[in-house]
Amino acid sequence: MTKKKIILVVGARPNFMKVAPVLKSIREHASDWFEAMLVHTGQHYDANMSDIFFSDLDMPQPDRFLGVGSGSHAEQTARVMIEMEKLFAQEQPDLVIVAGDVNSTLATAIVAAKAGIPLGHIESGLRSFDRSMPEEINRIVADEFSDLCFVTEPSGLKNLRAEGIPESRIFFVGNTMIDSVMANTGKAKLVFPALAKQFDIEARKYALVTLHRPSNVDDKENLTLLTGLFEQMQTFAPKIIFPVHPRTRKKLEDYRLIERVRNIPSLEMIDPIGYLYFLALQSMAAVVLTDSGGIQEETTLLGVPCITLRNNTERPVTIEQGTNEMTGLDMPAILALSKQAFEGKWKKASIPDLWDGKAGERILAVLKNFLT
Ligand code: UD1
Repeated sequence: MTKKKIILVVGARPNFMKVAPVLKSIREHASDWFEAMLVHTGQHYDANMSDIFFSDLDMPQPDRFLGVGSGSHAEQTARVMIEMEKLFAQEQPDLVIVAGDVNSTLATAIVAAKAGIPLGHIESGLRSFDRSMPEEINRIVADEFSDLCFVTEPSGLKNLRAEGIPESRIFFVGNTMIDSVMANTGKAKLVFPALAKQFDIEARKYALVTLHRPSNVDDKENLTLLTGLFEQMQTFAPKIIFPVHPRTRKKLEDYRLIERVRNIPSLEMIDPIGYLYFLALQSMAAVVLTDSGGIQEETTLLGVPCITLRNNTERPVTIEQGTNEMTGLDMPAILALSKQAFEGKWKKASIPDLWDGKAGERILAVLKNFLT
């Protein structure tokens, strides 16, 4: 029997932890059937936005690196499309798997669809219903062209059905990002003492902040508001740890806010950090303030209060069942909730269905059925 070739594509930071469990499942349990090839588009390229995730996740180095780098949306998408078309022509895969909602996901999905190559989408069906977010466009296109839609939460099923995606293409498998958290929390615990020493923090006595959404960081007024928020949080937060995304650092500099942020005594601005360190900081935080998608899910699994600095979420289960509260940029609400979190008061939460560390295995079962 000739082995079927599966190409798994990663491009940006949030892709790595979603793809790692699927690659591992295929290589460890189905190497007689499948040849798995890992392709990195190079959308993220800094060592601390990309390389470190491979070592932290025990993920093998990519078999191919396309080196597309940064650019406008059209430039970045187009570069991935051009390189991916050549790669697919050379490699003739039987299936391509993409994850999440980044530009690399969109570009790969279009090329696979036009080349007639079956496509699988990890984290399918999520919708913010906000088309001003580039990620929403990317998700819609990827789902439309996917033969296998791997869904993480009930809203995903509902959204795909509402868009007329046939039942035969929809698979509720759970959340591979959660597989990665569960596989790595033990290791992350071990690194916390060193971090606590480095940043002079104690468990549950610090806030962790991440910001990178264009609506928050590209907009001067909003970024100024957020700077003011961190100043006000001083009254009750002994420490705020803020790993700064490259895009956010640039905007803080452009808008001349960087000095103001640096001058907040209890705020520690650091470069983006690796997966294990970030997981450790998340799991021991009093509260996490974020505009990320995945962090809303990780905090729910970890049982850590999360405040989402957005007006919508494509991951409603984290609010309905998990530890997530959505505030947008309502400053009094953010301050009141953050204070509550430091006092140990938060809503009761539970773990969503099938967030059990086995999503990668479920996806492998679907692949076997589809390809053999
Ligand atoms: C991308 C994703 C977003 C995801 C985020 C996680 C899209 C549309 N957006 O946003 O959904 O949540 O990744 O980080 O795909 N840069 C560097 N080094 C890098 C990568 C980026 O300096 O390794 C800088 C560049 O100046 C670049 C900017 O960050 O122009 C933005 O990078 P880009 O990949 O376009 O989007 P993100 O904001 O990272």
